[in-house]
Amino acid sequence: MSSSGIFISFEGIDGAGKSTHIDALARAFEGQGRVVTLTREPGGTGLAEKLRALILHEPMDAMTSALLVFAARRDHLQNRIEPALARGEVVLCDRFTDSTFAYQGGGQGFDREMLLFLEQKVQSNRELEPNLIREPDLTLWFDLPPEVAAGRLSTARAPDQFEALDAAFFGRVAAAYAERAQQFPARFERIDAALEVSEVWQQVWQAVAAKGWLAPRAGERRA
Ligand code: TYD
Repeated sequence: MSSSGIFISFEGIDGAGKSTHIDALARAFEGQGRVVTLTREPGGTGLAEKLRALILHEPMDAMTSALLVFAARRDHLQNRIEPALARGEVVLCDRFTDSTFAYQGGGQGFDREMLLFLEQKVQSNRELEPNLIREPDLTLWFDLPPEVAAGRLSTARAPDQFEALDAAFFGRVAAAYAERAQQFPARFERIDAALEVSEVWQQVWQAVAAKGWLAPRAGERRA
C-alpha cells in the first residue's frame, strides 16, 4: 500500500495481553525518532469513542454492532489514521477490522458477506489505487488458548459485554482469527501470547524489525 507511514494493528481475544506490548512498541519507535499515533478501535476520535461506549455497553444485535463498529472505523480512518499515515507517522492501533470478523463474524455468527462488503466500502480511499482498501501493513495477532485468556480476565476489572461472554463464544472468536490469519499470511504475524511477557515482547520486536522498520538495538536479543 502506498503510504509513507506504517500502520500496525494488534489483535487477539480479550485477555491475550496486547496492551503492554503496544505501549512498549510505541516507546521503541519513538526511541528511534519516529512519531507514533497510538489509537484503538472501536474509538480513536471523539465520535468513535462515543460509539465505543454504546457498542461495549448497550444491548444490541450483531448487525447493529457491526454497523456501529464500521461507522466508528470510517470516522477513525478519515480523521485520524489517514492523516497520520500521510504525515509519515507510525500508527499503532489496538484492534481493527480483524476484530469485527472475529467478534461479530465468528463470535456472534454475523453474515461474513456483509462484513466483506462493509470492509470494502468503509476502508476504500480515493488516494489509494482503485480496488485497494486501507488495511494494516502488519497485524500482530496475540494467539492464546481461550481458556488461558479467560483465566487472565477473571482477575481484571469489570468486563464489558463481550468480555462477559462464555467459553464457546471465545472459541469461535479464536477460530475466526485463525481463519483470517490463514487468508492473509503476508500481513499477519502470529505471536505466541502464552509465553512470558519478555518472550512475547521479543516476538513483537522481531516481527517489526524483520520488516526493516526498527533498527537492531544493543540489548535486544536476536533470533
Ligand atoms: P479491548 O480493545 O480489548 O479494550 P479493553 O482492553 O479496554 O477491554 O475491548 C474492546 C472490545 O470490543 C473487545 O471485547 C472486542 C470488541 N470489538 C468488537 O466486538 N468488534 C470490533 O470490531 C472491535 C474493534 C472490537
